Amino acid sequence: MNSNAPICLFDSGIGGLTVLKKLANAFPNENYIYLADLARVPFGDKSKEELTNIVNEIVSWLEKFNPKAIITACNTSAALLADQQSSLVSIIDPVAKEIALSEYKEVTVWATKFTIENSAYKKAINKINPNVKVQEISCPKLVPVIENLECSIEEKIKIINEYMDQISPSSDALIYGCTHYPHIDEMVKKLRNIKTIDPADAVVKEIFSRDVARNVSTDRTPSISLYTTAHKEKLEKFSKLYLCGDYKVELVTLKALV
Ligand code: DGL
Repeated sequence: MNSNAPICLFDSGIGGLTVLKKLANAFPNENYIYLADLARVPFGDKSKEELTNIVNEIVSWLEKFNPKAIITACNTSAALLADQQSSLVSIIDPVAKEIALSEYKEVTVWATKFTIENSAYKKAINKINPNVKVQEISCPKLVPVIENLECSIEEKIKIINEYMDQISPSSDALIYGCTHYPHIDEMVKKLRNIKTIDPADAVVKEIFSRDVARNVSTDRTPSISLYTTAHKEKLEKFSKLYLCGDYKVELVTLKALV
């Protein structure tokens, strides 16, 4: 493995930046390539066939960089790949294992329609521990409001409350089963005193346990390259708000994933 090879991540949009931020904080010497497919967001409402084509295209494009690892910074894509043999690092499996082996008796998952319809979290947790009760709530309105820079706080709160009201009173924790949701973490915490779980934390631990972490980059000027298929200004705005550190950040719009 080339120690200076990049770590690649992808998402439909700005959601995966929440994973990139935690990873870049934990491994500050690495080079990162992030792909946001903003031309096709949201992924969560797509059919299995549509999503398969999109994910295959993205993965083939990222593989050209000969990366150390490709991380699905997108739960919807990880849900799609859950039943398949895949070399990608899943955002779902590491946290599912942690929850299955924890003290939690009941957890709630907020996620996209696709992730919930495929019971991705329930299957991954209950495969290891069938005794954990997993409440699944599909939240199709959250990604559009998080991606929409014009959306008012009042509108966001109204929609968050809609899903908050569905959480079982006996639930021990809320899992953000979509990488967009940590962007609204502060609002969620203000509305209810609930323990929240960001699966990105378990992904960081997973990377620590892999070869990637033993093969640290020696690059003196680590970089973050942000690629998008559309709406470069949106990725730019969120990356400025969200990513910090001494990275050289470049932003590129792709005409096509070829
Ligand atoms: N952020 C992604 C996820 O974790 C995709 C959301 C979407 O595009 O619907 O599921």
